[in-house]
Amino acid sequence: MAENKEERRERLRAMAAEFEARGDTLGWFEAFYKESAGDIDQIPWADLEPNSYFRAWAESTGLKGDGRKALVVGCGLGDDAKYLHDLGFEVTAFDISPTAIEWAKKLYGDADIQFETADLFAPPQNWVGGFDFVLEIYTIQPLPLQMRPQVIDAISAFVASKGKLVVVTRGREDDVEPDVLPWPMSRQDLSRFLEKGLTQTDFVVMPPVDEDEPPRFVVEYVRNSTSS
Ligand SMILES: C[S@@+](CC[C@H](N)C(=O)[O-])C[C@H]1O[C@@H](n2cnc3c(N)ncnc32)[C@H](O)[C@@H]1O
Repeated sequence: MAENKEERRERLRAMAAEFEARGDTLGWFEAFYKESAGDIDQIPWADLEPNSYFRAWAESTGLKGDGRKALVVGCGLGDDAKYLHDLGFEVTAFDISPTAIEWAKKLYGDADIQFETADLFAPPQNWVGGFDFVLEIYTIQPLPLQMRPQVIDAISAFVASKGKLVVVTRGREDDVEPDVLPWPMSRQDLSRFLEKGLTQTDFVVMPPVDEDEPPRFVVEYVRNSTSS
């Protein structure tokens, strides 16, 4: 299974490069989900469980929804959306891949979760500043490094005044050059969230579950004002 995971990572790197070469940077996500043909073992980031780093953080902080509005960015198959739903959030979850969203609906369609196909860079207008809690897990890191500021700006824009954002990502030191997709994030990369009117309220470094992997950063921000 771990071997298959590495093979699938190699496959997605090749697909990302192919699509990029023909000027369609984001197209490989849908192609990859489609090619996986409903077999969860073909999706390296999917395991039908909430992200274990996020869950550890949520349990340690006693996260509760209390009916607050949450948005899950790049939700994939929807496991984290379901987790937030179970914690009592009113959840909207979106992904650029229609196949991923259909799959998420099959898995979690019985829960009252709004699953939508949407592009982070062209979201419905009413999502801007529309959420009390925004969750971003592993969507920034597979996108090209030169897009990173643009991605961070787009994610920041969803956070309502007084709202929170939690980012879970592979982490790296500022002076280490990332060499392979998924490109881990540095503290320097993350500092752009602070330029978008967010204040960092927690920063936890977690050891990786697989020892060959980079550590994970779980970072919490709050928007103190209506500034963006
Ligand atoms: C590495 S996967 C992580 C999925 C999920 N967050 C998880 O942890 O299981 C990245 C996800 O981001 C989605 N994605 C990439 N670019 C996007 C965009 N511009 N707008 C919305 N979703 C996007 C992909 O389709 C993919 O499902």
